[in-house]
Amino acid sequence: MPIRVLLVGAGAIGAFYGSRLATAPNTLVSALCRSNFRAVKDNGFHVSSPKYGNSTFRPEYAFSNPGEARKAQIKWDYLLVATKALPDLSDDSELLEGLVGPETSIVLVQNGLGVEEPYRKRFPKATVLSAVTIASAAQPSHGKIQHNRWTRISIGPYLPHLDKEGTEESSEDEQANAKNSRFVELLREGGIEDAELYSHAGLQFVRWHKIAINAAMNPSSVLSGGSENQAMALDPELSRHLLAVMEEVLDTAPRVLGKPLPDKLASPQKILESTKKNTSGSKPSMQLDWAEGKRMELEVILGNPIRIAREKGIEMPRLQSMYALLKMAQENRQKQSKL
Ligand SMILES: NC(=O)c1ccc[n+]([C@@H]2O[C@H](COP(=O)([O-])OP(=O)(O)OC[C@H]3O[C@@H](n4cnc5c(N)ncnc54)[C@H](OP(=O)(O)O)[C@@H]3O)[C@@H](O)[C@H]2O)c1
Ligand SMILES: *[C@@H]1O[C@H](CO)[C@@H](O)[C@H](O)[C@H]1NC(C)=O
Ligand SMILES: *[C@@H]1O[C@H](CO)[C@@H](O)[C@H](O)[C@H]1NC(C)=O
Repeated sequence: MPIRVLLVGAGAIGAFYGSRLATAPNTLVSALCRSNFRAVKDNGFHVSSPKYGNSTFRPEYAFSNPGEARKAQIKWDYLLVATKALPDLSDDSELLEGLVGPETSIVLVQNGLGVEEPYRKRFPKATVLSAVTIASAAQPSHGKIQHNRWTRISIGPYLPHLDKEGTEESSEDEQANAKNSRFVELLREGGIEDAELYSHAGLQFVRWHKIAINAAMNPSSVLSGGSENQAMALDPELSRHLLAVMEEVLDTAPRVLGKPLPDKLASPQKILESTKKNTSGSKPSMQLDWAEGKRMELEVILGNPIRIAREKGIEMPRLQSMYALLKMAQENRQKQSKL
């Protein structure tokens, strides 16, 4: 039996990893599309990459909506979710209704914190794998996927009941670990050499570390009028702010997770230094979304960390200020666009 993967959210990141998985032996990848359906159905995805070259990835099935995917009645091994995480706009776990069988794992490749909860709540028996990637990719036009650089993806099973001290792993937890290992193997077989295997606790640290960077760079770029990363890091006043935001997040993470921060994660100072040297001229994704009039991933990058910390009695004042300001800015713009 081949391994069957369905991309739910076949945009930049989903289609990039999908195109790699499709090259793994005995693996068939399908796509649940939306606005790019026609282009993908007719021509597949054109993927350009400095590492893998240019290729066409034709999904086994391309579906135009969730109903079509349900009708196909396929036993999916992995549902790879790579929509933008916008819980204030839509609960995308709904897209998976009728697609999750007893053997299906849900793999979330999304930025932010707390993205797993809607899936765990809706599908309490399913295995949820949580993934963070530093790859940079874009979809400049429908079905054209541009992989820019980096491939690293870190994946761990989402097993929050293990956060309680003294909890032993059950046989279901072991199954989740096995499915996680298998998925990492598939990615490696697809040429993603730096697909990394994590435990539940280890992966949550990776999430906090990634949002330390995202929570510093993304909102600051929007609030400063669309700055590039390097310009912010080189500005004497703004660089202090970036450093303090990253420190706020990384001071909070061990207090929330109840364990010390792993040593191997880059320090805020190091991240800032490398951003200063980075001449790529890149701007954070949140700024690109704002500039295009799209919703920003504010809730999972700022709102959820603040709320998760607050539940433990910890305030994150720098994140809170940026969150409050940007949330209102987004609401004001939306009101204006409806006038
Ligand atoms: N791009 C990067 O370099 C990068 C790097 C690291 C992490 N990430 C994270 O990866 C996640 C995905 O980002 P992305 O850049 O790949 O976003 P993207 O290019 O906008 O892709 C999202 C895809 O999901 C589709 N989608 C949304 N709702 C859908 C629905 N209801 N039914 C079917 N399809 C739906 C979108 O379709 P439409 O086009 O119709 O909206 C789009 O094709 C985000 O959490 C992001 O923060 C991205
Ligand atoms: C690959 O595709 C990109 C984007 O479509 C293009 O700019 C580049 O020239 C192509 N490279 C090769 C080797 O065909
Ligand atoms: C340079 O910036 C890009 C885009 O933000 C990022 O992916 C990359 O990691 C940065 N490079 C270094 C050396 O920090």
